[in-house]
Amino acid sequence: MDVETVVLVIGANGQLGSVLTTTLKEKFGNDNVIASDLRKSKGFKGIFEVIDATDINRIEEVVLQYKVTQIYHLAAILSAKGEENPIQTWDINMKTLFNVLEVSRLNNIDKVFFPSSIAVFGEGAPLDDTPNNAYLDPATVYGISKAAGENWAQYYFLRYGLDVRSIRYPGVIGYQSLPGGGTTDYAVDVYHKAVLKKEFSCFLKEDTTLPMIFMDDVIRATLELMEAPKEQIKIRTSYNIAGISFSPAEVVAEIRKLYPDFEIKYNPDFRQEIASRWPKSIDDSAATNHWGWKPEFDLEAITIKMIEKLEEKYKTGSTNKEVLLF
Ligand code: SER
Repeated sequence: MDVETVVLVIGANGQLGSVLTTTLKEKFGNDNVIASDLRKSKGFKGIFEVIDATDINRIEEVVLQYKVTQIYHLAAILSAKGEENPIQTWDINMKTLFNVLEVSRLNNIDKVFFPSSIAVFGEGAPLDDTPNNAYLDPATVYGISKAAGENWAQYYFLRYGLDVRSIRYPGVIGYQSLPGGGTTDYAVDVYHKAVLKKEFSCFLKEDTTLPMIFMDDVIRATLELMEAPKEQIKIRTSYNIAGISFSPAEVVAEIRKLYPDFEIKYNPDFRQEIASRWPKSIDDSAATNHWGWKPEFDLEAITIKMIEKLEEKYKTGSTNKEVLLF
């Protein structure tokens, strides 16, 4: 255990933050991980500080109080939700990032993690095996904020030597937490509906293939990137990582192996437009070559684990109902 490291997680209640906080506590010890979000979620155990990340003074106060050495900045408004109020989404996503970068620079934070997304890509990028250095012309305000954020991350590295590291996450699928406001989130909801034996209404068309990744792979990727020696991090905007690509029809076929009666209806809405501009598959060779990235979960393995874990959760009544699907 590295006793020197004290981690602050901003956005610890979210889909990723909640799982990452648990893993970081296992790695660095309960006393060395400070979870933070707008409010404390019920039943959270461990150190928690209320932080509104648009308030730079509050972030700095917590950093100084706990002698924080690493920040994981996971708070953001996602692609679909962000379209409801574009200017507010831009303000929140950028303000919180600037605050984290500035506090980190001014307080000599060792390492910062900033998640980016496949949402940075748009029509100018090839849809298949999208390369790391493809042209970025995102069409959602979330994507624009992530593309800008990547450039700011690189700027803070080049200008101030701040060790900011970033991954472009595909759609994240996990049983531990619920996502909120994303375009890829149908791929979590679909498993909940299957286990609850409900019909699923899908907001994407059946053949909409998107890059996805299982939570275990995401957490491992994030920690591997953060642990890699500094000289191996040669991309300071953000790294593509791939997991598995599939469409709603493919996930349903997989679910039906376990629940043959599972029903789905397709009711595409504005999220179809967003998805149609995103890559179908991702070239992650830079991440593989630079710091050894390799995904482990394919669609079959994801489906088996999602269903097993969700059945368990619904039986014991431990599903987190605090976060609602968009
Ligand atoms: N999962 C995210 C979304 O759909 C993409 O980063 O918004």
